[in-house]
Amino acid sequence: MLEGKNVVLGVCGSIAAYKSALLVRLLVKAGANVQVVMTADASNFITPLTLSTLSKNPVLTEYFVPETGEWNNHVELGLWADLMLIAPISANTLAKLAGGLTDNLLTAVYLSAKCPVYFAPAMDLDMWKHPSTKTNVQALQGFGNIMIAPGSGELASGLHGEGRMAEPEEIIEFLTADIKKKLPLVNTKALVTAGPTHEAIDPVRFIGNNSSGKMGFAIADELARLGADVTLVTGPTAQHSQQHSIKRVDVTSAAEMLSACQQYYTDADICIMSAAVADYTPTTVATQKIKKQDGSVLTIETKKTTDILKYLGDHKTDTQILVGFALETNNEEQNAIAKLKSKNLDFIVLNSLSDAGAGFAVDTNKITIIDRALHSTIFELKSKEDVAKDICNKVIALRIK
Ligand code: CTP
Repeated sequence: MLEGKNVVLGVCGSIAAYKSALLVRLLVKAGANVQVVMTADASNFITPLTLSTLSKNPVLTEYFVPETGEWNNHVELGLWADLMLIAPISANTLAKLAGGLTDNLLTAVYLSAKCPVYFAPAMDLDMWKHPSTKTNVQALQGFGNIMIAPGSGELASGLHGEGRMAEPEEIIEFLTADIKKKLPLVNTKALVTAGPTHEAIDPVRFIGNNSSGKMGFAIADELARLGADVTLVTGPTAQHSQQHSIKRVDVTSAAEMLSACQQYYTDADICIMSAAVADYTPTTVATQKIKKQDGSVLTIETKKTTDILKYLGDHKTDTQILVGFALETNNEEQNAIAKLKSKNLDFIVLNSLSDAGAGFAVDTNKITIIDRALHSTIFELKSKEDVAKDICNKVIALRIK
């Protein structure tokens, strides 16, 4: 959930600032880009060097850096952030944020941030209980900021009670769960196929195609990023998923791909079949390597494979969304519409080999989406990651219809 996210971590003056080191480590481990912004007081509790080493970014404290003459632009930082986490937040900074004061970089970044803001208070028992603190917390929550509540236990003062900052592991768990629950495809299961299939001729040869699997992997990553629980059935490929949550099922032949899809289809809410499945497979597979013959022609007899997408279309329920691809060289739209109808799809993604930069083994694609109402949307040439976003946006639009 935190992978690739830009996180501004605000650290305030509190003994709990020592936990920020672990927090930075966990954020970085989760794949986030972390920019620490400290108050001047926070550096009395933990050194900027520790946090800059762990975050791999210089720690920012001041608006203006006299040594370099540079200006730390709070507006840019606020816009850069996908998420702002202030942990620990002291009673003092809580009060400043509630009142809109901006006497340091952290408070100014907060006011400039357009992203979700989380705050994890840390203070002594009586400060936490004080009506003024309660009012400030309510004010921040009223602004839409999200509190990661403090726990109870031994406090630095020696007192026992509420006010301990949540543990770094709990904070990461909280953030992950909170981000996930707001994603548009949370609680949905998706099945994606990718790559080519290899149809064996003999123990060392096969019939295959040039599909790299890039498009299918990009779709699987995007679906997972949007919160779906993704199973990716892939033919032989060198691709790797970016999202660790994806369940990858490796197959070789069209028959293996069919049986894997049958296994995961019943539970799937969304199915996107981007694999370049072989339409024909050798009737028999030689058990020994086929030796050269005297004649100049070698004929390999083939039989049709099962059209996986058609099989899924025939068994589709009303709640499932089924998406197919059409790779065409001529009569593109007409052929794609025929596939859309015959395979009972919700929409089809057409790519034409006559478009430069589209098709197999390239990093870009140019698609047209045609839906059941035969409404077609033509997209520009884009990276396969951005094409995946367009396809997933169409899926989301269908689900909320
Ligand atoms: N497909 C499939 N199983 C097959 C063949 C194709 O699931 N045995 C799926 C592909 O994953 C794609 C869609 O069907 O989503 C269209 O594939 P394509 O190769 O363009 O079309 P075909 O239906 O195979 O027709 P043709 O090759 O004649 O154009």
